[in-house]
Amino acid sequence: MQTHNTILALRAQVRQWREQRLSVGFVPTMGNLHAGHFALLELAKQQADRVVVSIFVNPTQFGPNEDYARYPRTEAADAEALRERGCDALFLPSVEQMYPFGTMGCVQMHVPGITDILDGLHRPGHFNGVAQVVARLFNMVQPDLAVFGRKDYQQLQVIRYMAREMSFPLEIVPAPTLREADGLAMSSRNQYLSADERKLAPRIHDTLLFMRDAARQGLPIDRIEDAARERLEAAGYVVDYAEIRRADLSRARMPVEQGLVALIAARLGRTRLIDNLEFDPF
Ligand code: PAJ
Repeated sequence: MQTHNTILALRAQVRQWREQRLSVGFVPTMGNLHAGHFALLELAKQQADRVVVSIFVNPTQFGPNEDYARYPRTEAADAEALRERGCDALFLPSVEQMYPFGTMGCVQMHVPGITDILDGLHRPGHFNGVAQVVARLFNMVQPDLAVFGRKDYQQLQVIRYMAREMSFPLEIVPAPTLREADGLAMSSRNQYLSADERKLAPRIHDTLLFMRDAARQGLPIDRIEDAARERLEAAGYVVDYAEIRRADLSRARMPVEQGLVALIAARLGRTRLIDNLEFDPF
């Protein structure tokens, strides 16, 4: 596995692969890699001849009171794990490479509508930062396909819209959510949880199942959302949202429509957890 710290070195590598007519898959991450990330790498390896993984903790997607400074950075262990799993190139850009004109005066991205609801409402500017860094990474790596997890459902939708509208010549490949045995979606943020909080953490997935089952019984959506919120609050969560939406994240009217998704973001102590569940009525 080659490790590249500069865009120039990465491009030289990708150019070499292209000359050999090899296709290139890409998995962007913020590091502190876990089984969920490795499943994305596996999917990329199945669909492309060579795979680039990037690790970059992107300052522009964190709010002023969020965990940018304390986000877990474990580059040496991540690099070793990627090498073992057959990643071809690791891209580790610096903040200066990513934002040569700083993070304030630079080109911004805004995907209207979708960045202003759900997580976008509770983390103002978050998805603009995500779109901004992913567009930059796409231009740096120039892959044929890029893999994103369904765990971050709204992020996946934002990137799909952005890639389509900006005519990025690549395919966005979604990957299923990997969970712990008790249903908790794997996340780099799970390690912030205390032992007591960890015991309560599967309640998010349980509540998503509850929302799905209630929708299948035809209960009104607003009643389901209220009940889900109460269920989480009773376990000590502070709930940002618990909603049922259509696959494109517009508001669902009927509980038993095709292609719905239940989405939750809720905080346990200092840790904010998000998860979702896609489902059909029957
Ligand atoms: P990060 O949280 O490191 O996640 C990187 C990728 O792994 C994302 O596509 C995310 O959806 C996926 N992922 C995380 N946990 C997963 C799980 N349990 N199962 C399946 N996939 C999972 O998402 C980001 O980084 C950043 O916002 C990024 C896209 C890199 C832009 O900075």
